[in-house]
Amino acid sequence: MSKTTIETIKAAKNARKLVMITAYDALFARLIAPEADILLVGDSLSMSFGGYSDTLSVTMDEMIYHTKAVCRGAGDAFVVFDMPFGSCSTIDAALDNAIRVYRETNASAVKIEGGAEKAELVKTLSQNAIAVISHIGLTPQFARQSGGFKVQGKNDAAVKKLIGDAKALEEAGAFAIVLEGVKANAAKPIAQSVAIPVIGIGAGADCDGQVLVWSDLLGFFEAFKPKFAKRYMQGAALAKEAIAKFADEVRSGAFPSADESY
Ligand code: KIV
Repeated sequence: MSKTTIETIKAAKNARKLVMITAYDALFARLIAPEADILLVGDSLSMSFGGYSDTLSVTMDEMIYHTKAVCRGAGDAFVVFDMPFGSCSTIDAALDNAIRVYRETNASAVKIEGGAEKAELVKTLSQNAIAVISHIGLTPQFARQSGGFKVQGKNDAAVKKLIGDAKALEEAGAFAIVLEGVKANAAKPIAQSVAIPVIGIGAGADCDGQVLVWSDLLGFFEAFKPKFAKRYMQGAALAKEAIAKFADEVRSGAFPSADESY
């Protein structure tokens, strides 16, 4: 995989599909980096690693710690830092927090949830040399306010609003957009409305790329399976089997054998 840059991401539009996968630590970043165009240190960390029921609990400090680990594991891969809940409540706070991300980690860009109402904020960051991926549609940081994780783009007015969001964010300087939880037939006109790549999650096949959370992709997250996720292996089942085998062998005395002894 050749080195990803903002230019190669933009050039992928209408040329090839982008692959984005979350990572939260060096171990998995090392496994994911060779296949992914973009590694996202998502605030989904809060749920899949932290055990919380939504993404609101993870802090800037925690995201920075995990992003440093991902950057160490990912080599020169393109790593995106997901600005956590509360970190972009004002333009000044967003700028300070994003500068901190660039100073303390090797992340190449930040991701910010929100539509046209965040355009001014995205513009300020872009003008201050911070690269931004926007995130529209189902925006988990708004889930408590909006009453849960709800599929978006269900009627013409909602699709029109999302197209307006996408255009405003492109105009503000976002170099890509994550589009989450949008009906497949609505995602297509949204993706086609902008010249920057629209990377989908639960937004059908017509986006310019796809992102999945690694613990969904590998079947480690068992609490629930979102409809849009596909488990490419049964990670939790395999891990439990291996752990049970180790426990059995310790109890029976089969581990350690001579092979594992000095
Ligand atoms: O936090 C995350 O993992 C995300 C993806 C679902 C896009 O924002």
